[in-house]
Amino acid sequence: MKYSLLANGHRIAYSASARPNSTIPLVLLHGFCEDSTIWAPVLPRLRKLRTVCIDLPGFGGSGQPLAPGMEACSEAVCAVLNELGAERCVLAGHSMGGYAALAFARNHPERLAGLALVHSHPFEDSPERKENRRRGIEMLQSGKKDLYVAQLFPGLFAPDFVRENPAVVEALIRQGRKQPEAGIIAALEGMINRVDHQDTLKTAPCPVLFLGGELDAIVPPEWNLKSAHLPDIADVHLLAGVGHMAMFEAPEQTADILLRFWHFCENSFK
Ligand code: MLT
Repeated sequence: MKYSLLANGHRIAYSASARPNSTIPLVLLHGFCEDSTIWAPVLPRLRKLRTVCIDLPGFGGSGQPLAPGMEACSEAVCAVLNELGAERCVLAGHSMGGYAALAFARNHPERLAGLALVHSHPFEDSPERKENRRRGIEMLQSGKKDLYVAQLFPGLFAPDFVRENPAVVEALIRQGRKQPEAGIIAALEGMINRVDHQDTLKTAPCPVLFLGGELDAIVPPEWNLKSAHLPDIADVHLLAGVGHMAMFEAPEQTADILLRFWHFCENSFK
């Protein structure tokens, strides 16, 4: 079921499954140029949980953020939890959604029962990556959104997956083209300006899951290993043959890992 609420005058769209008796929701945050529907392939195996999928500010049905950055995303999560009356959650973020989840972990650690970084990491952008993002902003500002989006998605998957599943990649490109330019630009600015979160992981008050892909060109496996030693309790999975999009490339494995992690976190709070 889809809902929307206003936080600081801005619309936040989210969908929540009806599982009132599962105490701690699993909140899922999508990555760059996507919206909450990317989690559809894993939801069937998570049906026993209360899942909440949020459209981050600037994407899907949510309004534009007041200011670009991960703080607006963190506050969107907070507003949805408040609306649901959920004291804490297990928060899973894919890639840019993981950067947003880390901002939430720093701002509201007491509201986390678990943190899952799906193809994500705590490190700041390198100068080269910042430069690439600035070039992306210029491209978008010169009206080339369709080209920008078409170039973005194929590189997120393992090459074999792209060859064997062109329709999946095309559907994401079509969906990406529907995202507002202003939202994409704000997200790029937000990623350029985001801070390093290694300390956030060192002080995380809950277990942290790292789910990476062996063939991920955006968050290489070494980055998972470099960050996995930071929290007190880490659950680390590296999926063979998978790129940056495990929810499409290995949906069942991804769902089962998230489900086991949720149970582990829930038990830690009993
Ligand atoms: C994403 O998938 O959210 C982005 O690729 C993350 C990034 O560019 O750092």
